[in-house]
Amino acid sequence: MASSSALVTINNVKYSVGEAYSDTTLNQFLRKTLGLTGTKVLCREGGCGVCVVYVEEPDPNQPGSTIKRSINSCLCPILSCDGWNITTVEGTGNQKKPSQLQQQLTSHNGTQCGYCTPGMVMNMHALTKMSEGQKLTEQTVENSFDGNICRCTGYRPILDAFKTFAHDSKSKLLDLEDVGLSLQICPKNGSPCSGRCHHEHDSITEVLPTHDLGASSSWYRPKSLAELYTLLEGPLKGKKVFLVAGHTSVGVYDDGPCDALVDTKKIVELTQITTDATEGVTVGANVSLTHLIQVLREPAAKNPAQYHYMDVLADHISKVASVPIRNAASWTGNLMLKRAHNEFPSDVFLCFELAEAVITIGNKDGTSSVSPSQLLTTNFDDPKQVILKATFHPKPSNVLYRTYKIMPRSQNSHALVNAGFRAEVDSYQTGKRIIRSIALIFGNINPSFIYAIHTQKFLIEADMADPAVLQGALGRLRNELQPKAYPAEPSLEYRTNLACALFYKFALEILGDVADQRYRSAVGQLVRPLSSGQQDYPTEPKNYPLTLPIPKLESVVQCTGQAKYISDMDSSTMLHAAFVLSEQGSADITQIDSTNALKVNGVVRVITSIDIPGSNNFVAPPGVAEELLASRQVVFAGQPVAIVVATSQVAAENGAKQVKAVYANVKTPILTCQDAIQAKSFYPAIDDLKVGDAEAAIASAPHQVKGSMELGGQMHFYMETQVAVCTPTEDGMDVEAGTQWVDAVQDGVAQVLAMNKSSINVSCKRVGGAYGGKITRNTWIAASAALAAQLTGRQVKMHLSFWDNAKLVGKRNPYHTEYHAGFDADGKLQGVYINAYVDCGAAPNDNPISGLGTWGDNAYFCPNWKFSMTACKTNTPPNTWTRAPGSTEAIYFIEHVMEHIAKFLNKPSIDVKYLNLFKNGDKCITGQTIDNCNLTDLTQQFLKNVEYQKRFNAVQIFNKESRWRKKGISVTPMKYGVVWNSNLYNCFVTIFHNGGAVAVAHGGSEIGQGINTKVAQAVAYELGISMELISIKPNMSLTNANATSTGGSVTSELVTLAALDCCKQLLSRINPTRQAMQGKSWPEVIEKCFTDGMDLTARSWVAPKTDVAPIYYNTWGVTCTEVEIDVLTGEHQILRLDVLHDCGESMSPLIDIGQIEGAVVMGLGYYTSEQLKYDEKSGQLLTYNTWYYKPPTTKDIPADFRVQILKNAPNPVGVLRSKVVAEPPLCMTCSVVFALRNACDAARQEIGKGREWFQLDAPMTVERTQGYCLPDISQYTYGPTKPTKISLRLRLTR
Ligand SMILES: Cc1cc2nc3c(=O)[nH]c(=O)nc-3n(C[C@H](O)[C@H](O)[C@H](O)COP(=O)(O)OP(=O)(O)OC[C@H]3O[C@@H](n4cnc5c(N)ncnc54)[C@H](O)[C@@H]3O)c2cc1C
Ligand code: FES
Ligand code: FES
Repeated sequence: MASSSALVTINNVKYSVGEAYSDTTLNQFLRKTLGLTGTKVLCREGGCGVCVVYVEEPDPNQPGSTIKRSINSCLCPILSCDGWNITTVEGTGNQKKPSQLQQQLTSHNGTQCGYCTPGMVMNMHALTKMSEGQKLTEQTVENSFDGNICRCTGYRPILDAFKTFAHDSKSKLLDLEDVGLSLQICPKNGSPCSGRCHHEHDSITEVLPTHDLGASSSWYRPKSLAELYTLLEGPLKGKKVFLVAGHTSVGVYDDGPCDALVDTKKIVELTQITTDATEGVTVGANVSLTHLIQVLREPAAKNPAQYHYMDVLADHISKVASVPIRNAASWTGNLMLKRAHNEFPSDVFLCFELAEAVITIGNKDGTSSVSPSQLLTTNFDDPKQVILKATFHPKPSNVLYRTYKIMPRSQNSHALVNAGFRAEVDSYQTGKRIIRSIALIFGNINPSFIYAIHTQKFLIEADMADPAVLQGALGRLRNELQPKAYPAEPSLEYRTNLACALFYKFALEILGDVADQRYRSAVGQLVRPLSSGQQDYPTEPKNYPLTLPIPKLESVVQCTGQAKYISDMDSSTMLHAAFVLSEQGSADITQIDSTNALKVNGVVRVITSIDIPGSNNFVAPPGVAEELLASRQVVFAGQPVAIVVATSQVAAENGAKQVKAVYANVKTPILTCQDAIQAKSFYPAIDDLKVGDAEAAIASAPHQVKGSMELGGQMHFYMETQVAVCTPTEDGMDVEAGTQWVDAVQDGVAQVLAMNKSSINVSCKRVGGAYGGKITRNTWIAASAALAAQLTGRQVKMHLSFWDNAKLVGKRNPYHTEYHAGFDADGKLQGVYINAYVDCGAAPNDNPISGLGTWGDNAYFCPNWKFSMTACKTNTPPNTWTRAPGSTEAIYFIEHVMEHIAKFLNKPSIDVKYLNLFKNGDKCITGQTIDNCNLTDLTQQFLKNVEYQKRFNAVQIFNKESRWRKKGISVTPMKYGVVWNSNLYNCFVTIFHNGGAVAVAHGGSEIGQGINTKVAQAVAYELGISMELISIKPNMSLTNANATSTGGSVTSELVTLAALDCCKQLLSRINPTRQAMQGKSWPEVIEKCFTDGMDLTARSWVAPKTDVAPIYYNTWGVTCTEVEIDVLTGEHQILRLDVLHDCGESMSPLIDIGQIEGAVVMGLGYYTSEQLKYDEKSGQLLTYNTWYYKPPTTKDIPADFRVQILKNAPNPVGVLRSKVVAEPPLCMTCSVVFALRNACDAARQEIGKGREWFQLDAPMTVERTQGYCLPDISQYTYGPTKPTKISLRLRLTR
């Protein structure tokens, strides 16, 4: 039997890895064992792409050649990498010599927090390697990033950077030969590899574990089928065995530990592919999905008459998961997943069943053949069976094949419903489409549902062209579907409607172009063009480096994987901590039993609330206390009840699973605002905000509208989850925290440990994305790690798993809102009343509802306003700040009201909005007078620039011509009041003698927003020196004591203000010497100052108290969004989005463009695909993983994405004439909701309901969009008249 150890080459170094690593993933091996932390980790389920590496392995079918691919290292066991040559980001370039890919990504400003960046780089690296010898197109590049999520950038700059390597790129073509991709970096000295020390690289490093890895399975690697059968019927008989092909299935279902992992990749019989003219195509069991797609394409191209259906299959399988998953995943593993979990909406099963593939299975006694559906019930256990191959036979040319997959976002998602249809159609008789045979297969209906048998029977020998047959079939189909309710999946109604709609699409295809042209708009799916974009920004060369469009300072180290995050910190002596989270939303805790946890290898200690030396509260006054660990009661599911400390993260998490909390008095949790209203579960009342007398004004207004709406929450989805590393010291505690608020962490840790604040040293160098979620919530994690460190006397790291992070950390607040508005015949506002209920979750500390009083009027003047604000107490995690909290929702509410008014008056909404826009001299809801307002001109100019009227007309024409595709276009203008009050920051600037280099420590956290770059630009400008002399230091509790949080968009400008003040202080000391030494260099001047005894350090404190009124200045913007929807499925596409944003005189235009694009895409996700669902009984979050929670991917961004920074708009009161940027653009993205609403209106117009107002709730998921269009099988016809002239023979075209 072959050795179970693996010989793996990583960045040119060979490692021998033993069986102790059988449960270790490649990702863990890279990060923990080798310290190669450039490869990141987030979801550990193949859903995010931060862990992508490049792999070359010998091709078993072509000796001497290699298979090249990207894979997700988080799902790949290190022992399955035997014989592989793996390249990580560290092997492609470094800070001194970045590869061309890394350079391009840097120069296109494709990084913000940088946490996704190495995965992006490696995915592109793999693509270029895989494309060697072929011409890479822009489309291929765009198609290849379905598996890499970036929450910061909006993807546009990343795609643009990588498209420069395509041969059809409009940018200067970069020759792949010259881009340094072949560059190998010497792992020893970081220089390009000369290849001279090959013999050294040939030496093998044996890797020995430094701690107990907790491996519970044995590992086998048979080399032939015979060996495999001997194993299965010998030592492994009766054991739980996992046959490792791609090992990606654990990203979908983790069925727990098994006794043995048997790597089948060396079994050549399982990788073979044969093509025979009569027998068809046979693919071995281990063929990956990527390879399968290629294999299917060939016969389809060579012999379309018999193999046309293979193209249909290949297209469909291309929608499975993502490129790196498909590169690793086998079709066999997918079918076996379906076999083990019948409810799994397998696309591979659907395709194989549709194609009538024959699956050959084998055991020690021989082989047999089954269909994919028979496979689901075949006994695989005694004797143990193995899938060997699948065979696809040629098919008659008169059979039509179609498949459909409807997903919650454009790509990288499982099917909400998938369908495969096959029909042999006789179209020889004029006017008829006789069905000779038909198969209607559906997925995600219920675990046992495969074929719509009754509908199939009904259709045999029926004439599909007869409308009565269509209706008969649809009725039968609807009756026989019987979907099963899955709590995290869309409703039964949607899934039933969708399945019927997909069949209707197929029926229209059978009819061909003889069906009414308008109705044929249902055929096929939305086709997305290649993404394009424009970025237009002003710059002032006379002020350089201020206003210079430069990428982030840290961009290169982010691209090369050298940027170190707190989650990258590791040491062999460090302990790791994981939470035990409550499984009930509202209950008393009667017992926490840690007996079994303490038996888990590596577990050192289990901590509960009684172990806390200080206060069991991580929130400093005046905040409301929040328990660090639940003591007597749990108030939300996901609340920490204990902490498990262990020698590794795996052990800590395994230990946490073994802690048993016992509950009593379990109550039904309150989960929504509506629940809270019913239960009267509120936090202390908040006074109404009144301007004028809204009620009287509404009552006396000529017209009124009234309504309500629901608005969901949003997960932050930062790519680096909450993390802290705490080290006990003689002084107290050193804390490295991924926080937006160092001072709060210092408070929380001191409080929990009962120490003086001065004993806690907190530092934050960079954070891998935050979006508000690390303002107050990171303190929880830091204080917990500190507690564990204090109790064990050891350094402790707590880095939450994605799942725990999702369950524990609160999100953007959901709302229930009612409104009432009065207006005149033109739509001029007379009075507006908004009654908003905000879901604060289980604690009210981060309540954004007062945002209504700051931003609730958005861009519109009205003399009478009333805002009622109620904070609901629910059993969900305490909701928290999320990018543009309070403003986003407040602006959405008033925009919703404006849309309602426009609908009432039957006017385009922009006309009503335009009429009410603020003008100079108007008073806004804060009582402040509007000045420097040019919103009317700006909006008018914007509408002209984006050709709004022309496009509006084109949308109407399109909608008339198309029954089942509808378009919508909507414009959102914005006034965003910027609040400086209560934001306190400091800055510390030191000039070093002996070179004149400058170090800056400011009180903001670098979370990806580019704060360091802006500060460096401003300091260089003010001091009149090169940026290269400036370095920015971590935000620390000593140098930046007492600073408030990084948030509200203002931190960049306020720390810049403090930095400028430091520079001014320094210049006032230096300038006399500088003037006296005219012509001398900066270092010379500084040296003289030093020898003269001058203090070359300055600090500054910024504490704006601008007025009693909150708004310091306003920033303006307009967004226009155009969408197209598929009425039958609810899918949408953002055809074009234009945003004009006022950044004043942007300090750093490329950074600001990045912020605008990132904010827009985060907003688009919030309003369309990101949906939170909770279990009604326990209150547990159901959408806690990447399988269910869907932020936007590369193809969810606007197909045409145009961003403009307003020109000639210096801010007279701003810092260096600039304005804020990070949050306001998100507030305008609600325009996508209203564009979708327009499209739904057009669909409702078809059934005479176009004039009706309907309540619209957000996010506008595919389910809601379809539902609002009111499709119904009675509408599924071939058009107004029965087709009479059917003369064409069915043409099978794709
Ligand atoms: C993020 C993500 C997204 C996904 N999205 C989709 C999607 O949209 N649509 C979809 O259909 N699927 C999807 N999948 C599922 C994916 O296709 C499967 O994980 C994959 O095909 C499994 O193949 P594998 O080679 O990795 O199997 P493995 O994980 O290696 O094995 C899976 C199972 O198959 C068994 N097995 C392996 N080889 C054999 C053999 N020769 N004989 C018998 N049993 C064997 C193993 O014992 C194991 O039980 C997704 C997966 C992930 C991780
Ligand atoms: S960590 Fe591997 S895909 Fe998310
Ligand atoms: S830069 Fe992509 S996630 Fe932050």
